[in-house]
Amino acid sequence: MLLFREKIPSDWLPKVLANLPAVLVDHAHLERKAATTALNLEKFRDLFPCVEELNAIAMEELQHFQLVLNLLKRRGIPFGQPHPSPWISGLMRSLRNGQRYQVIDHLVCSSLIEGRSCEKFQVLAQALQASDPELGDFYQNLVESEGNHYATYILMARHISESEAEARLAFYLDLEAELIRQPNPLPMLH
Ligand SMILES: [Fe+2]
Ligand SMILES: [Fe+2]
Repeated sequence: MLLFREKIPSDWLPKVLANLPAVLVDHAHLERKAATTALNLEKFRDLFPCVEELNAIAMEELQHFQLVLNLLKRRGIPFGQPHPSPWISGLMRSLRNGQRYQVIDHLVCSSLIEGRSCEKFQVLAQALQASDPELGDFYQNLVESEGNHYATYILMARHISESEAEARLAFYLDLEAELIRQPNPLPMLH
């Protein structure tokens, strides 16, 4: 289902496993940002017919955010400041202006972020199965939902303009492949 043109770098998993508390704080912010992304998409005229679907995604992301906060509390990890993600800001830097261009670019970028989350949660779920089954199950339970968000955003973009969505998907897949190859020593999901 996922179309990525580059594999997750081999140093990502060891870095994440060695810094789980920091990664969980980063993950909490990621879910918070995913909820606001869904709400922000509602301002685009082309997405007015999708407002309830977007609300449902926002509520799901907010639930994910709360689940991560619960996990932080159970583990005695304080909620803190997030690191900015060069990978996410690299994608966002290429958003074009103009109502229709902007909405399609937002949808394609959001879809790729959801898609990478889905892929990375799956990798984490497997890696944690033996050492931290609670956290492994936690990540496994998020995989399907993030995969659905990925697919929903791509479908919304295609529904607005099939040709524009395809062209931008090709563009962003190349950009994403370039960005994910950039070294990032910080312990974060993206
Ligand atoms: Fe989520
Ligand atoms: Fe999501």
